[in-house]
Amino acid sequence: MKKLLVTGGAGFIGANFVHYWLANYPNDKVVVLDALTYAGNIANLKPVESNDNLAFVKGDICDQELVEKLLVEHSIDTLVHFAAESHVDRSITGPDAFIETNIIGTYSLLKAAKKVWLDGPEVLEHRFHHVSTDEVYGTLSADDPAFTEDTAYAPNSPYSASKAASDHLARAYHHTFGLNVTTSNCSNNYGPYHFPEKLIPLVITNILHNKELPIYGDGMQIRDWLYVEDHAYGIDLVLQKGQVGENYNIGGHNEWANINIVKEVCKLVENEFANNESLAGKFADAKAAIAGDTKSLITYVKDRPGHDRRYAIDATKTQNELGYKPRESFETGIAKTVKWYLENEEWWQAVMDGSYQDWVEKQYS
Ligand code: NAD
Ligand code: TYD
Repeated sequence: MKKLLVTGGAGFIGANFVHYWLANYPNDKVVVLDALTYAGNIANLKPVESNDNLAFVKGDICDQELVEKLLVEHSIDTLVHFAAESHVDRSITGPDAFIETNIIGTYSLLKAAKKVWLDGPEVLEHRFHHVSTDEVYGTLSADDPAFTEDTAYAPNSPYSASKAASDHLARAYHHTFGLNVTTSNCSNNYGPYHFPEKLIPLVITNILHNKELPIYGDGMQIRDWLYVEDHAYGIDLVLQKGQVGENYNIGGHNEWANINIVKEVCKLVENEFANNESLAGKFADAKAAIAGDTKSLITYVKDRPGHDRRYAIDATKTQNELGYKPRESFETGIAKTVKWYLENEEWWQAVMDGSYQDWVEKQYS
């Protein structure tokens, strides 16, 4: 039986990981530590809120004393670190929070983990799993081979630079102090509870508001998309079978140019409207979706500064050593995701207008 501390467990991937974990390991204890920034939402944990094995603590990963207290009080043996500032566009307009949370916050967690697990009277059994991104490897051109774990780090945005710095710190705490660190570098995730500033949920919710679908630059940038539950599954395998001190790439073998994925989402939303007449009444503003003409909302806009052209993950090591293979196909994953947004309007309306705290209070009162 494991006792997990999950940082950022009220965010998109962290919350999906907590759902996954409690469903697969119902006897394990999970403590979520989350500062509930704009991206964190306690309502993301609603499906598991009544689980006695889940505890939620609102707090900052930079608060080393709090983290030490949680590690001791809950006898935590596994720390899974998701908490981060995660949106590239925000890292361009306001990098400070990325340096603070992603670098200083990770450093603070590593110090707390070292103190509690290594520096006491006896070394305790432990694992520190650090969740990172493929963006630390930089950018690829169309013909380059995909990133392996041996690809040199070459981050290009303040977001990816801050993640790279945190990866190096985690590596150093293993190498120098013997902390049992593993790191996973994953490609772009999609699925339920994805904050609607990111491409896929932005496109779905903009279609439902009949708003333009902004495509940066020529729209030919390529990302590898993975269903979020398959990321949780990959981390599970790393925790079970990964070697400490190692990095593991997790990806979907699923590269899409932005413009094509946007067109695909347009098609899926239109199909839903065509097959379910009640949607036209529910989303009366969605004129283009009702008319079957959502592609007319696509609008090319100024490119993101320093925009990485292509990310692609070679997950051979994770497949060979851990037996990892995504379980969801893109076809089924994206269809489930579109349906989730159509069925959970209250969730995304509340997070988008910033009123989710009011909404959460109503839900929980
Ligand atoms: P997110 O922005 O949806 O969630 C981040 C969570 O961290 C939020 O709940 C937020 O409240 C919390 N948080 C932020 N600052 C905090 C602090 N100082 N103390 C405590 N909690 C804090 O992010 P996400 O998309 O779920 O990403 C989770 C992790 O996965 C990140 O480390 C990110 O770099 C990594 N990652 C994301 C993707 C992706 O496609 N989204 C892909 C690969 C890796
Ligand atoms: P995003 O979801 O922000 O993830 P990341 O930048 O971490 O890959 O963006 C995915 C891709 O979509 C990226 O190439 C930027 C592009 N994009 C747009 O073209 N328009 C948008 O409105 C957004 C948010 C992203």
